Amino acid sequence: MATPNLDFSSDNAAGVAPEIMAALAAAASGRAGAYGADAWTEKLQRAFSDLFGRDVLVMPVVTGTAANCLALATATPSHGAMLCHRTSHVNEDECGAASVFAHGGKIVPVDGPLGKIDPSLLKAAIATMPRGVVHRSQAASVTLTQATECGTTYKLAEIAALASIAREASLCLHMDGARFGNAVASLRMKPSDITWKAGVDVLSFGATKGGAMGAEALVFFDPAQVRDAEFRRKQAGHLLSKMRYVSAQLLAYVADDLWLRLCGHANDMARRLAEGLGNLPGASLAYPVEANEIFVKLPLGVIARLKAAGARFYEWEWALAEGADSMLVRLVTAFDTRETDVEGFLAAARNH
Ligand SMILES: Cc1ncc(COP(=O)(O)O)c(C=O)c1O
Repeated sequence: MATPNLDFSSDNAAGVAPEIMAALAAAASGRAGAYGADAWTEKLQRAFSDLFGRDVLVMPVVTGTAANCLALATATPSHGAMLCHRTSHVNEDECGAASVFAHGGKIVPVDGPLGKIDPSLLKAAIATMPRGVVHRSQAASVTLTQATECGTTYKLAEIAALASIAREASLCLHMDGARFGNAVASLRMKPSDITWKAGVDVLSFGATKGGAMGAEALVFFDPAQVRDAEFRRKQAGHLLSKMRYVSAQLLAYVADDLWLRLCGHANDMARRLAEGLGNLPGASLAYPVEANEIFVKLPLGVIARLKAAGARFYEWEWALAEGADSMLVRLVTAFDTRETDVEGFLAAARNH
């Protein structure tokens, strides 16, 4: 039996899907136009337009942070505000980059259960920024993360509710889809239904966490914004001279639904792992597991045992309350997680 790999620290710790490596190898020889004037990038526009069922404009970049920031900055002036969930990557894990890209635009966190923005709290936050009051930042954009940073997914009605608030206030609606494939595979819905048809204006479409080497795509459903975004991408250092290699990864990722197979597999492995962990004495899942991330409170003894066995995962609490006997941890599965890895992790947790 294969030795289990007990590294559940991140989907970024995973390698590259063979189909994507093969596409890179196939693109490796010969001449191609620089800065996106190549056959792969041209084909990408068609492939993503087919995927989303309408003409879209796709801009390949290489980090999710760049995709998010370029999308938000395009819609947010320096006196504007970008509303996001408190736990969002934009708010907590991008070092304020969205504000830098938006030349001072303010990041405004909004709360809500399960990693999802609460519509009434979004309305209340917008109301604190009356239009035309020069002392206040002016609400300009809303970003929601699909799948969320809690490993849950926004359902169609939840997206539509936030979109209607955004539309009413003339705000741009952005979706951080670093794990969009996990969300689509989990919800079993068409990409179009949970994006532009539900009111999303621009999407950060992630592929890196799903199995690419390093490829993200900014997808604009409103071509009117694109001219400006192209200049911003250049200024940000994300107009790649050899763009064909990012485009080739994205093309392979979406070809023949590879992305949905890779992300669907990661989701299945997460569900299996969550079931096993949830049944451990003293353990409790913090959120429903609807994508490839698991947040679970584990007894400290189990955590120590897992670490001794060489398991890797993130401890999700900065400091433990005095006398606490358990801790919230995060585990992430990926396209290459095997059943053996899940079983090995559970065996180490159970100590047999
Ligand atoms: C939800 C979410 N958005 C965006 C990102 C940013 O990706 P990158 O690290 O490529 O900048 C991440 C990365 O962890 C993420 O989890």
